Amino acid sequence: MATRSTAVLAGLGGWLPPRVVDNAELTARLDTSDEWIRTRTGIRERRVVDAGMSTVDMSVEAGGRALRSAGLERVDAVVLATATPDQPCPASAPQVASRLGQRDAAAFDVNAVCSGFVYALATAAGLIAAGVARDVLVVGADAFTTLLDPGDRGTVPIFGDGAGAAVLREGRDGEAGAIGPFDLHSDGEHAELLVVPAGGSRQKEPEQPSDRYLRMEGQAVFRHATTRMAESSRAVLDGLGWTVGEVDRFVGHQANIRILNTVAKQLGLPADSLVVNIERTGNTSAASIPLALVDGVRDGSLRPGDRVLLAAFGAGFTWGATGLRWPDVPVEAVR
Ligand code: UT7
Repeated sequence: MATRSTAVLAGLGGWLPPRVVDNAELTARLDTSDEWIRTRTGIRERRVVDAGMSTVDMSVEAGGRALRSAGLERVDAVVLATATPDQPCPASAPQVASRLGQRDAAAFDVNAVCSGFVYALATAAGLIAAGVARDVLVVGADAFTTLLDPGDRGTVPIFGDGAGAAVLREGRDGEAGAIGPFDLHSDGEHAELLVVPAGGSRQKEPEQPSDRYLRMEGQAVFRHATTRMAESSRAVLDGLGWTVGEVDRFVGHQANIRILNTVAKQLGLPADSLVVNIERTGNTSAASIPLALVDGVRDGSLRPGDRVLLAAFGAGFTWGATGLRWPDVPVEAVR
């Protein structure tokens, strides 16, 4: 599946909760080590929401920054990519829209877990291409730490909380920031490899206490993630008519530095083309790509005119990729 669109990236923002949890804090309460976490994942610290802070709260912070970056006060739609909405019902996007002063805007959630931001960008580009909206705020936000078993060393070191956001506006094909084509896929046969079993319509109450927590078969997810992100990236390169050698920056979902290095190797991209911020964020799920984009602009690794490839993989399984020539967007510091 591939689409052309004339949606153009016009603004970007990110926000992380203030509480920093470094590896040393985890080693005090889990059977793990700073060395294991750093070498196996590339993570040194992550941010964690305090009690009472939610996905909507983080989204409002990131979304406000993206609107200021775009110089816009009003958008026609707010699309929130999240797997951790404030409540199971209703969707969280209308609350984000209201709190950002966008009370009349169309607003809905997209749940493609760690691929959510790429899916939400495609959704927003579709709204623009269909003439439904001219300006769309796309937010990727997750409070994944709220799904973790505090005693599980297989997940607690990996995930962190945060929010990132982008504004897409109607534009012309070929101008800087024009995003697409998109390549999106899923394979629900692997749902059980990365799952929170309880809390939905199938198992309302946990049959066993651990059913309310995220369960991850790390090695299997790792293998699928590398293969699928590379495949999807190749499809987008074909669609754009770019060779691998023409890609300036690869911004992949920040799940594990070893996943990013393996994808780069499979594609034949040099390691220094990777934009990486996982060291300070951990895996922030739907927030990870926009947060990496913000950091890339701030540290100068993303420059106007760069050919940029984005790729993600997440629970479901879901995966996808897209690309754009980097526009000149002003970006505030993440916090
Ligand atoms: O966001 C999208 C979804 N998520 C992902 O993409 C995550 C994909 N998976 C991964 O990133 C990796 O599989 C992990 C980081 C989760 C795990 O790394 P791994 O290299 O696949 O480790 P492993 O599960 O194969 O475990 C290797 C060893 C095992 O010990 P033995 O059997 O070799 O003695 C584990 O018991 O490491 C042990 N181990 C740990 N040791 C210290 C597992 N977790 C830890 C830990 N600290 N936290």
